[in-house]
Amino acid sequence: MNFKGQHILTARQFDKEGLFAVFEEAKKMEKIVEGGRDSDILAGKYMATLFFEASTRTRFSFEVSMQRLGGKVVSNADMKGTSSLRKQETLEDTAKVVSQMVDVLVIRHSDVGSLAKFAAGSDVPVINAGEGAAEHPTQGLLDLYTILKHKGGFDGLTVGLMGDLKNSRVQHSECTLLKHFDVKFVFHSPSSLMVPEETLNELKGHDVKIVDSMEELIGVSDVISVSRVQQERFENEEEYRKVAGSYILNADMMRLARKDAIVIQPLPRVDEVAVEVDNDPRAKYFEQVRNGVAVRMALLKLVLA
Ligand code: NCD
Repeated sequence: MNFKGQHILTARQFDKEGLFAVFEEAKKMEKIVEGGRDSDILAGKYMATLFFEASTRTRFSFEVSMQRLGGKVVSNADMKGTSSLRKQETLEDTAKVVSQMVDVLVIRHSDVGSLAKFAAGSDVPVINAGEGAAEHPTQGLLDLYTILKHKGGFDGLTVGLMGDLKNSRVQHSECTLLKHFDVKFVFHSPSSLMVPEETLNELKGHDVKIVDSMEELIGVSDVISVSRVQQERFENEEEYRKVAGSYILNADMMRLARKDAIVIQPLPRVDEVAVEVDNDPRAKYFEQVRNGVAVRMALLKLVLA
C-alpha cells in the first residue's frame, strides 16, 4: 500500500500490509515522542483541521502529531458556526479553497457522504477524523495498535464489542480493520442499538456471536471494546433516555473478565465505564490517547513525507 498523496477516508482502504506499515511507523514515532525532541520530517508542511462536530482528543491528537513532526497547523474547531458554509459555500468549494493553502486537510463532519465531497474538491489529501455514525478510521487504527501492543498480534483473539453498536463509528471501523485477522467477534448492545447488517456482512466467514448479556461477552473476551450511547445520533431525548445507563462496566463486572483481557474505549465516557475501573491495570483507555498520537504521526508521515 502506498499512502503518499492519498486521501484517508475509510478503514476499508487498509489491507494487512497497510496496517502493519502504519504500526511499524508508529513504533518509530513513539521513540520521537519519548525522546522529547520534535522531529523535522514534516518541516514546511501545513495541516488544516476543519471540525464540524465536537471534539477534544481527535483534533488535539492530530495537531500535536503534526507539530511533533515539525509541521504547522491551522485550525477551526467550530466550522458549523463560523465558516463560509454559513454563506452557502459548498463542501467541495471549502475544501478546494483551503487546499490551496495547506498540504493536508483533517475533517470531522456529521453527515455520512460529506468526506467524499471534501475529497472531491480538495487538491491535497483529506483525512477522515470522524464521519457521522459511519466511520472513524484513525481511531480504529489506534485501537488496533493498542491491541497489538498488549496482545502481540490479532490472530486467535476474541474481541467483544459492547455499547451503541449501531451508531459507534469507532466500533464500525474497528470491525472493518479486524476482519483481516482470524478474530472471533462477540457483540452485546441494547436491542435498539444492534450492530448494523452492513458490518455483519463485512465479517462473513468469521465466528460472530450476538449475546444477550454483558456477562457473556466479558467472560470470553481478550479485548473488551466499549462505546458510549451516541446521544447526538438520536432523534430525541426520549429515545436516548430509554437506553441511557443500560450497560455499565464496573469493578464487579471486571471480576468476570480474563486476567489478561484489555478494555478499550475511545472516550469520552458517560457512565458506561465506571470510574472505579480506571485503576484496573486492564483498563487501557487513557493509554489509547497516547497511542493515538504515535499512530497519527505515522499516518501524517506516510501521507506527506
Ligand atoms: C469518538 C467519536 O468521536 O466518535 N471519540 C473519539 O474520537 N475519541 C467516540 C465517541 O464520541 O463516543
